[in-house]
Amino acid sequence: MPGKVRKYAVLNNKGGVGKSTIAVHVAHGLAIKGKKVLLVDMDGQNDASLFLGFTSEDYNNSLYDILTGREGINLSECIINARDNLDLLPSRNIDRINSELYKETRIDLFLKEKLKGLEEMSYDYVIIDCGPQRSKINDAILYFVDGIIVPVQVETASVRAIGNIYEYLADLHLNSDLVSLIVPNMYDQRTVDGKENLEFIKEFFAGTDLLVQPVHRRIKIAEVGKLGKTVYEFDEESSKQFNRIVERLVNSDAEAKQ
Ligand SMILES: Nc1ncnc2c1ncn2[C@@H]1O[C@H](COP(=O)(O)OP(=O)(O)OP(=O)(O)O)[C@@H](O)[C@H]1O
Ligand SMILES: [Mg+2]
Repeated sequence: MPGKVRKYAVLNNKGGVGKSTIAVHVAHGLAIKGKKVLLVDMDGQNDASLFLGFTSEDYNNSLYDILTGREGINLSECIINARDNLDLLPSRNIDRINSELYKETRIDLFLKEKLKGLEEMSYDYVIIDCGPQRSKINDAILYFVDGIIVPVQVETASVRAIGNIYEYLADLHLNSDLVSLIVPNMYDQRTVDGKENLEFIKEFFAGTDLLVQPVHRRIKIAEVGKLGKTVYEFDEESSKQFNRIVERLVNSDAEAKQ
């Protein structure tokens, strides 16, 4: 019997804070640890797919076909293998799906129904890369997942906006417990600004165990994305930073199972 799949969204309403970078690296890190992982690209920019080296020319079928109920197509025909243990469900036309969703009365059930095939597949983890901003598709994702990984850029505007995710959850009548991990990203310990903002994040989450150690700003992390690779394939030193997140997830999921 395959164990129950754990589903995480990587989400923050701010743009450019590292959602796609963290989604891809957490997914690859889990895969390297031997977990079976599906990364779902639910952002119209398709960065998660691009960071793994896939452009829209590399696939015909996509999440779009599943969400729009294209006749005769099943989920497995839309999934491509990206690395050992790591599959990718790419998307197209997310904006179109988003506008269609305004007509949907049960947005809370939308992905549960459309993606119910996932439960029968042998994945341990489904990691969903989300677009920035509140959207209908992000609402649907929040109703679907077991937890949220929130990257926060260690920079003043992002740090000030930290509470937005909780407002978003409250508006959807979802429990704030859905936030599983806070990942400070692009931390530069050499600057006063970096240190102060990290301190702010620590104070904000004091008394919780949500915070993981920051991912530092490193040129290599940005460079590998442009090459369609991850740091696991290029830079062992940077990969350690993502491994800390991976280990937290694996350990907390093991505890939850007991
Ligand atoms: N720790 C890091 N060090 C250096 N560069 C990083 C780091 N994390 C992310 N980046 C770079 O910052 C840019 C934004 O990251 P990314 O695309 O992951 O953010 P995002 O939140 O997914 O953006 P969007 O809101 O547009 O979807 C990218 O060019 C990425 O390579
Ligand atoms: Mg992104």
